[in-house]
Amino acid sequence: MRVLGIESSCDDTGVALYDSEQGLMVHRLASQIDTHQMYGGVVPELAARDHIRSLIPLIENVIADPANADQTPDAIAYTEGPGLAGALLVGASVGKSLAYAWNIPSIGIHHMEGHLLAPMLEANPPEFPFVALLVSGGHTMLVDVQAIGQYSVLGQTLDDAAGEAFDKTAKLLGLPYPGGPSIAQTALKGASDRFKFPRPMTNRPGLDFSFSGLKTFALTTAQNNDLDPQTIADIAYAFQEAVTETLVIKCRRALEQTGHKRLVIAGGVGANRVLRAKMAALAAEYDAQAYYPRIEFCTDNGAMIAYAGHCRLQAQATSKSAPLQDHGFTIRARWPLGEVLNNP
Ligand code: KG4
Ligand code: ZN
Repeated sequence: MRVLGIESSCDDTGVALYDSEQGLMVHRLASQIDTHQMYGGVVPELAARDHIRSLIPLIENVIADPANADQTPDAIAYTEGPGLAGALLVGASVGKSLAYAWNIPSIGIHHMEGHLLAPMLEANPPEFPFVALLVSGGHTMLVDVQAIGQYSVLGQTLDDAAGEAFDKTAKLLGLPYPGGPSIAQTALKGASDRFKFPRPMTNRPGLDFSFSGLKTFALTTAQNNDLDPQTIADIAYAFQEAVTETLVIKCRRALEQTGHKRLVIAGGVGANRVLRAKMAALAAEYDAQAYYPRIEFCTDNGAMIAYAGHCRLQAQATSKSAPLQDHGFTIRARWPLGEVLNNP
């Protein structure tokens, strides 16, 4: 089965082909960073318009790739949610229309399920069960993953996502969007002993997160100091240390609570090198193994949606559920991961 995957939930248009026999065949990405950078964050209406411009040429390009040689896919997977409504509508309506035109099934995928399964595209994929730390611009959660479709959310953020905290802190420091990579870059020149940020919600039990206080702490620190380049670097360093250490503390608890020996870190913030180094140390401490998607599949991409769609469609083919030839569609700007539970 060859699945065309379409991702359009935020500011990246991603298209890919995943094949049961050959694995990931082609993947392409159109990033919108240039569109949104001057605003310091994603402008939803501009994101939707960019997806409209990029999506069909990207699909044409992927289908025509020599690896595929114009073969019509057997199915289409598109991101149904969560995400920006206008952006999601572009991927869902194009995906559904193509499925109708080609007379093939289509399936809506939960964006976070895509992130969660992205490490499966690597050479040494994790076996089930595992703990997944999903850290993106819109979400931060810990999930106990028993099998495909069997996800228990162990904890999540009560306010800002980790990536959102990076983005907002970068903005107040005058660093460019997206904030994660620019804070990581700036922090390389930061001093480790100048500022100490809190590790939110680590002094009480539980696996929930809260990152909005760190952004406020960064703001107060910035207001109380001259914002020269060294001070900006020092704040970036202290902020990155606080976020990454907090994530490690919660992952340690999740490993202890579940007894799992595998830890998946996925989503845009999973690209952070400091976080990866700290997670490697944590895994070693617990005789566990840490798994990541390759850097380009940490952030949004079509490959993870094609793969998740492939898994779901395979599961449906072996169950007796109705074939996916329904041409109506919905998008879900808000969609708790728990609602896709046990529903392959
Ligand atoms: O998964 P993603 O592409 O989009 C969402 O689903 O939200 O994640 C984007 C987020 C942004 O907030 C970005 O600042 C953050 O991931 N990010 C990083 C790094 N690269 C991207 N955060 C920290 N360090 C990085 N190297
Ligand atoms: Zn994402």
